[in-house]
Amino acid sequence: MPLQNIISEKAKIGKNVQIGSFCIIDDDVEIGDNTIIKNYVELRKATIIGENCYIDSRVSSSGNCVIGNNVTIRYDSIIARGIKIGDNSYICPKVMTNNLNTDHQQIGGAQIGKNVFIGTGCVIQHGITIGDNTILGSMSFINKDIPSDETWFGNPAKFQKSNSKKTK
Ligand SMILES: CC(C)(COP(=O)(O)OP(=O)(O)OC[C@H]1O[C@@H](n2cnc3c(N)ncnc32)[C@H](O)[C@@H]1OP(=O)(O)O)[C@@H](O)C(=O)NCCC(=O)NCCS
Repeated sequence: MPLQNIISEKAKIGKNVQIGSFCIIDDDVEIGDNTIIKNYVELRKATIIGENCYIDSRVSSSGNCVIGNNVTIRYDSIIARGIKIGDNSYICPKVMTNNLNTDHQQIGGAQIGKNVFIGTGCVIQHGITIGDNTILGSMSFINKDIPSDETWFGNPAKFQKSNSKKTK
């Protein structure tokens, strides 16, 4: 039995959505059918999540962002305001995405394509675009646009190889 969730009456929760305990779901949040939300998840205003997603414990979203269908976001990851995440993408634990620049201006989170794999502990800078079928190695600092079908890693991340034979 879920305990102590705070779910806005203005949130739209799809069919067969499972929500754990101690979650906060703000106004205008949308969660698609068959999505699983684990524990201690905070989804701020106008976070849109598609169908068949898995949002692990302690994920936070700053709001005004769009997460596609079949997306996994593992525990402790932070989804910045304005982020877009394409279908079938996999966000590993402790990924940090940024919105503000150092002048505190809201640039908006990254635009992340479909079927993207973001390794554990990556930091994704504001305003960048990450192409489809990309792999970002663990602990990478992503501060420039990443083309589709490539693996990048390091701090700052650099091109490593093409993924064209591995992509769906
Ligand atoms: C990026 C990645 C996919 C590359 O895998 P790969 O192609 O098999 O690469 P290899 O393991 O053969 O490593 C090749 C070289 O890159 C280095 N390297 C690999 N990943 C790296 C990373 N994330 N950061 C820095 N260097 C890395 C290796 O040390 C190796 O260097 P060397 O040639 O000097 O020995 C993989 O290392 C990775 O980071 N996967 C993400 C894992 C993850 O976050 N899993 C979460 C599960 S919940």
